[in-house]
Amino acid sequence: MSATTSGIDMESVQRFAGKVFADLTAEQMGPLSAVADRLGLFQSLAELGAVSATEFARHTGLHERYIREWLSAMACHGYVQYDNANETFRLPPEHAMVLADSESAFYLGSTFSMAEAFWRHVDQLADAFRHGGGIPQSGFGERFWCGFERFTGPAFRRFLCQQWIPALPSVDAALRAGGSAADVGCGNGQAVLVLARGYPRATVVGYDNFAPAIAAAITNARAAQVQDRVRFEMRDVVQGVPGTFDLITLFDVLHDMPHPKPALESIAHALRPGGTCLVAEFNVFGDLAHNIEHPLGLGAFGYSVSINYCMTQALAAGGVGTGSCMGEERIRALANESGFNSVQRLDFPESPFNVFYALQP
Ligand SMILES: C[S@@+](CC[C@H](N)C(=O)[O-])C[C@H]1O[C@@H](n2cnc3c(N)ncnc32)[C@H](O)[C@@H]1O
Repeated sequence: MSATTSGIDMESVQRFAGKVFADLTAEQMGPLSAVADRLGLFQSLAELGAVSATEFARHTGLHERYIREWLSAMACHGYVQYDNANETFRLPPEHAMVLADSESAFYLGSTFSMAEAFWRHVDQLADAFRHGGGIPQSGFGERFWCGFERFTGPAFRRFLCQQWIPALPSVDAALRAGGSAADVGCGNGQAVLVLARGYPRATVVGYDNFAPAIAAAITNARAAQVQDRVRFEMRDVVQGVPGTFDLITLFDVLHDMPHPKPALESIAHALRPGGTCLVAEFNVFGDLAHNIEHPLGLGAFGYSVSINYCMTQALAAGGVGTGSCMGEERIRALANESGFNSVQRLDFPESPFNVFYALQP
């Protein structure tokens, strides 16, 4: 029997306080991981193998007192393993895939630097709760977008031309034969660069309505030496998509769009006969009850990232504020209303956090 005080289950209070304390701990660990992202600490630890705090400080050229405290926090938090007998620390290879290997499909090491923007916006967010409106996309800053690019880039490089497009055989064939593709909401351009490399005969263009994203995409194309094979254009696709395409992609864009219906209508008009719009969204449900029981536990992430960025920047732009948890039914309904008669869901087991839809007019 639980100990109770005035009808309060004190065991349950203690359990819940434990959960909140764990959340508080995770939140405090965030800046430590952001520092690691700046200084390459997870990468250095992965390279070195088992190492003492003194050796790690010497190798990284950083202050030992900070390094020892950082390693201790990481060991208690379960990111790093500690060998008490030898007083050494190591990053297990499985953890390195998530925290250090920036080409791994499970890489999350860049996301801690993105979270800085969320904390910076707490006052503005509270104002938006009071008075409506939101926080414009421009308020999030370069570090946020650089983190996002490093978050989504590895999956494009691993799966876009190897799995996602080959699942659409006629699109794959058209692009191999020199067709054309547009990535709408291209951000810093990573998917466009991958498409250009994977389909060397295809014409590839990236559209985005955010000027800093287009500038970063052009810089990235130059660095990747594909600037003569791709084109980036600043454009709100609600105003139309110039040209016609075998493939138009929307990677983590549909729910962010201030006005998704007219944008999808433009896209439907810009597809060639047999052309496809490939949409990638978070693998969340459209209804709260299912998200509370989400098998991968993504529900709270979906709604919180929605408030911290997705819904809030769309509301700042006077949009409908779709929110991150669109879910299959809403996506199907929106696609149908916007001129797409066929909506096929695609699931790729190696991309469990995303769900894909192939839309055809
Ligand atoms: C979350 S980011 C995704 C970036 C990129 N697709 C990726 O996965 O890394 C969403 C992008 O969609 C762009 N966007 C939103 N609405 C748009 C519209 N109507 N026309 C063009 N771009 C749009 C935003 O500017 C932003 O860069």
